[in-house]
Amino acid sequence: MHPGLFVSFEGGDGAGKTTQSQLLGTWLEGQGYEVVRTREPGGTELGRTLRSAVLHGDHVDARTEALLYATDRAHHVASVVRPALARGAIVVTDRYLDSSVAYQGTGRELGADEIERLNLWAVDGLLPSVTVLLDLDPAAMAARLTGEPDRLERAGDEFHRRTRAAFLERAAADPGRWLVLDAARPVEELAAAVRARVALLLGAAPEGSAP
Ligand code: TYD
Repeated sequence: MHPGLFVSFEGGDGAGKTTQSQLLGTWLEGQGYEVVRTREPGGTELGRTLRSAVLHGDHVDARTEALLYATDRAHHVASVVRPALARGAIVVTDRYLDSSVAYQGTGRELGADEIERLNLWAVDGLLPSVTVLLDLDPAAMAARLTGEPDRLERAGDEFHRRTRAAFLERAAADPGRWLVLDAARPVEELAAAVRARVALLLGAAPEGSAP
């Protein structure tokens, strides 16, 4: 049995979080680990209802929005993330509480510290061992997006510039947890950098043999 490991991916929409979390998950499974790939908002059945309310519902004010994300997260952590970590799985999530700190705390100007406190309470203090920030210029982000934009994607350039800066600032303040990567780099190069960091935490060689 391996100790559980919690990995999150953060960054703007269209930065490649889903691609990179898939590549990491596949690599880890190939190494013999149990991997739980998940996402916020919407990693649970209740979460899918909350996701649709917050992204596609009527206008909600900023505090309601923050509470909907925090509710999704509390339930996700209690019902999916903690049980998986307890049985020794590796949990890889697309977005976690740093998204709320950046989007609601800074983007919606509710205050980063307060939103962090709210979310740390919601998850009873659980933080990832590593958080990968796929950093991308908001202009490049917009160019990568396809389909109808959701409520957050419609929030405007200034909003997205603020959230990007918030992610970078948060990452710089805690380099032990964060790995910041330029999301414009080739997919395979990014995947190799992520593998190297995770392998370090697992005490394995990045391209090493099965544990
Ligand atoms: P995401 O699932 O990453 O978007 P998509 O499926 O469209 O790629 O996230 C949906 C949106 O929710 C995204 O614009 C960021 C936003 N968000 C917050 O504002 N706060 C949060 O805490 C989270 C988890 C996401």
